[in-house]
Amino acid sequence: MATPPASHLRQHLKAQATETADAACGPSDLPRHIAIIMDGNGRWAQQRGLPRIEGHRQGVASVRRITEHCARLGIGQLTLYCLSSENWRRPEMELQFLMHLLEQYMIEERSLLLRERISVSMIGRREGLPAATLEALDRTIELCSANDGMRLCLAVNYGARAEIVSAARELARDARDGHIDADAIDEAMLAARLDTSGMPDPDLLIRTAGEMRVSNFLLWQISYAEMWVTQSLWPDFDAAHLDAAITSFAGRDRRFGGLSQS
Ligand code: IPE
Ligand code: IPE
Ligand code: MG
Repeated sequence: MATPPASHLRQHLKAQATETADAACGPSDLPRHIAIIMDGNGRWAQQRGLPRIEGHRQGVASVRRITEHCARLGIGQLTLYCLSSENWRRPEMELQFLMHLLEQYMIEERSLLLRERISVSMIGRREGLPAATLEALDRTIELCSANDGMRLCLAVNYGARAEIVSAARELARDARDGHIDADAIDEAMLAARLDTSGMPDPDLLIRTAGEMRVSNFLLWQISYAEMWVTQSLWPDFDAAHLDAAITSFAGRDRRFGGLSQS
């Protein structure tokens, strides 16, 4: 059987671990949850004199590559920012193409998702998405629901502020109806009403195409995520880039407001 490419990174991290006094919680740890702001599709196409949609098409190939690589590495969850609630400001033609691409991806990806035992979920607002896209998404989620491998979460028509507002509304309603005590509201109660309820927070946040901003992505959940930004455009992002991000993550000292353990 061919050695999976992921094994090189694992070996490298293992070697680091043996040099670490406390390997159990040392820098050898893989991120449990990686979240990616997949940016730069338009620029990739523009650099080649192609229409922006060609960048999105190539972007899907990167999604495929990275999903497979993460699953083989043993990453617990991969969350991909596919469409923000602010992306509706784009031209109608580009949006239509993105919806079509998502629908197609959802159908074509089924064999890989099943083979790699990946389960799928979606965060974001369903309103405004075409019925055919939702149908393909729902069917894939259902088909993969028994998979016990990596969890792939797609952020589609997602906006973190809207997500937090809707959680706040739910808490307000529950308090008004006497189900909860307003003074007892804590972080866990708010987190339980976010789209990401039940998911671990991202450990590593990757953004491609060099922008140093979070663009309304998982604002609550990334409080203590380690960030890694690359100039590479999303269609050029490959397994080696991901390994570089993970290696950087593995060397970070995550203090969570406390003091260094070493
Ligand atoms: C990211 O690429 C994909 C989506 C936001 C859907 P962009 O389309 O934002 O690419 P740039 O930033 O214009 O290069
Ligand atoms: C963020 O990228 C959204 C997605 C990757 C889906 P954008 O390209 O929309 O972000 P801005 O507009 O540069 O902040
Ligand atoms: Mg962009």
